[in-house]
Amino acid sequence: MQNFTFHNPTRILFGSGQIAAIHQEIPSGARVLMTYGGGSVVKTGTLAEVKAALTDFTLLEFGGIEPNPTYETLMQAVALARREQVDFLLAVGGGSVIDGTKFIAAAIPFAGEPWDILAKQAPITAAVPFGSVLTLPATGSEMNSFSVITRAATQDKLGFGNPLVFPRFSVLDPTKTYTLPPRQVANGVIDAFVHIAEQYLTYPDDAKVQDRFAEGLLLTLIEDGPKALAEADNYAVRANLMWTATLALNGLIGAGVPQDWATHMLGHEITALHGLDHAQTLAIVLPAMLQIRRRDKREKLLQYAARIWDLHDGDEDARIDTAIRRTRDFFESLQVPTRLSSYGIGPEAITPLVRALERHGMTALGERQNVDLEQSRQVLALAC
Ligand code: NZQ
Ligand code: ZN
Repeated sequence: MQNFTFHNPTRILFGSGQIAAIHQEIPSGARVLMTYGGGSVVKTGTLAEVKAALTDFTLLEFGGIEPNPTYETLMQAVALARREQVDFLLAVGGGSVIDGTKFIAAAIPFAGEPWDILAKQAPITAAVPFGSVLTLPATGSEMNSFSVITRAATQDKLGFGNPLVFPRFSVLDPTKTYTLPPRQVANGVIDAFVHIAEQYLTYPDDAKVQDRFAEGLLLTLIEDGPKALAEADNYAVRANLMWTATLALNGLIGAGVPQDWATHMLGHEITALHGLDHAQTLAIVLPAMLQIRRRDKREKLLQYAARIWDLHDGDEDARIDTAIRRTRDFFESLQVPTRLSSYGIGPEAITPLVRALERHGMTALGERQNVDLEQSRQVLALAC
């Protein structure tokens, strides 16, 4: 196991009815800017519930944060927050709203051009405090310090991370996910699945707890993902999925172990150039990534085959093949296609994707930093 420092300061308020408790989490007298997406929280009543819990505060609203939140939209919120001297932000929505709010929080006090936070990894020395009310279990953004933002004008999708942008608190009320369309439920299951894969399917490093923990989370997704699609208002299922997605990317299973993230980096370029949902890109890339890098990942793939897919006997390569096929089948069973061609994207898309990786410096990816542009090209070719 590698050395690590682990500190996660986000307070989790988990369970039905927890929105009512958020007034205790926000400093009294705060001027609060509530941020949300395209209107689902208005339709479902979640925003009204949040407002009802915050009658003692000065409340402002900023809606319209899109999936794959854009710098262009978020800078409007930054202007509003600066003008209105907002001192607390409250994200109500999915990963895009929370990621967008992290950027707003960092950009408000930022002295230079805030895009540099993403493009140049410009250091942040302050951020406006914020909380979140999660409506879509998927990204883990509710309990981590990462954010991914798109600049629409240049088709760049870039991330930043900083301890200053951990949410102060996050409400995880599983009943708020009942209204999710099946596509977003499936996206959430796949995103969490691939977050676990990025931290687990690397090489062994004697990290037994992290491995067993990751395997428990994967098995929960395989068990409860399909149930969530079949029974939209099954509380137990939604609760398990919600907590699994949070634990998949809150730093716990990634502490002290090698991490990959190549699938995500290729995925971000596909979203930036072709507009696919984040999880759709992961469902396309992961099976091909595992296939192309099966030699580097051999030991962990065999462990994955045994402990997740119950494949213990016979030829090792056949077991790895079956494990990768089962992974693909699982994504497809959630109605998420796993080939670029299923989304109308042909082989001519590969070169521009590889060029985008190069432009963003994504030339030495993976747990061994050996995924170069040639290997990324092979992965994309296999994903056609
Ligand atoms: O915009 P509204 O109207 O709210 O609708 C949203 C949106 O259309 C809808 N939705 C959310 N909750 C709902 C609901 N509809 C009905 N009922 C509800 N309860 O779902 C749609 C998708 O929402 P979005 O927030 O975009 O999805 P997700 O949570 O999957 O977030 C994806 C974004 O997170 C980034 C992705 O790159 C992408 O930009 N990621 C963030 C990470 C992080 N911060 O750690 C890690 C991830 O790997 C990922 O990159
Ligand atoms: Zn992801």
